[in-house]
Amino acid sequence: MDQYLAKLEEELLLRTNPPDLKDHPVWQAAAYSIRAGGKRIRPELLFRTLLLLGQEPDETATAFAAALEMVHTYSLIHDDLPAMDDDDFRRGQPACHIRFGEARAILAGDLLLNLAYETMLEMGKENTGAPGAMQALAYAAGGRGMILGQDRDLQMEKKKPEEISLSDVYGMAEKKTGCLIEAAFLMAGHLAGAPDEVIRELSVLGLSAGLVFQIRDDILDQEASLDTLGKTPDKDARSGKKTFVTVGGLEGARRALDTEAGKIQEALWNLSKLGYDISGLKDYLDRLAERTF
Ligand code: IPE
Ligand code: IPE
Ligand code: MG
Ligand code: MG
Ligand code: MG
Repeated sequence: MDQYLAKLEEELLLRTNPPDLKDHPVWQAAAYSIRAGGKRIRPELLFRTLLLLGQEPDETATAFAAALEMVHTYSLIHDDLPAMDDDDFRRGQPACHIRFGEARAILAGDLLLNLAYETMLEMGKENTGAPGAMQALAYAAGGRGMILGQDRDLQMEKKKPEEISLSDVYGMAEKKTGCLIEAAFLMAGHLAGAPDEVIRELSVLGLSAGLVFQIRDDILDQEASLDTLGKTPDKDARSGKKTFVTVGGLEGARRALDTEAGKIQEALWNLSKLGYDISGLKDYLDRLAERTF
């Protein structure tokens, strides 16, 4: 996996530092947020799914994984803005708008979103699955996916706790986080030319993986420190956020996590019955459910 992730970093650096414009502030802001690190979970899920499907990640896969990480990074830049979550730290460093100002952070996010599609359109010409992969990302990031979830998150922040149920939190989390994580699985499925029944299984797997990921994020908000998280802890309750923890309590959040972890095991089992070697992906997903950072 290290070699694929190293290629991903190269691709991200190259794409966000064009020789003619790399000193321009908006490019610097975009490159800053990309370079700040991050766990690169979505690209790694894309690579591991490709390997499960019997395909070695190639140049096209690297470019598509980079595009997915660009969309994710843009979502974080905007998520941290004062008008949204108003967070000063991200990935262990000052948030993009703290370092470069609000207006430029908005533009840097927009830049990364567009660069993602430009990258896929340029690099997807030889792969017949590329249009499906691009559509999967566009859907996941858009008004029926991540953006809808982010808007629900903001609406729910303004509501009284008694007005919100755990199933509302599920609906919001599935959109704001689940969709983009599901996209990692679906993009790999399309790039590998997987049959429809496999794509369906990858979708179930991806959504539950996304939910597990957000439940863990909500638990860590309460339990972890700035050092381990790289972002301000204990922020959700103070901001009126409706999360698995603030609505369901730590116990409720852990129960939800177990339920979704069970669905992941079921989907993995179904994939193994279809003849795929699930071990690499399973190990990684097990670690994600337990993550402490
Ligand atoms: C944070 O995502 C936002 C959520 C969807 C919970 P990550 O935890 O993957 O953030 P980075 O990329 O590692 O910074
Ligand atoms: C972020 O959810 C989801 C997206 C950026 C789409 P959070 O607001 O919980 O993420 P953090 O905790 O700021 O990373
Ligand atoms: Mg948010
Ligand atoms: Mg946030
Ligand atoms: Mg959070």
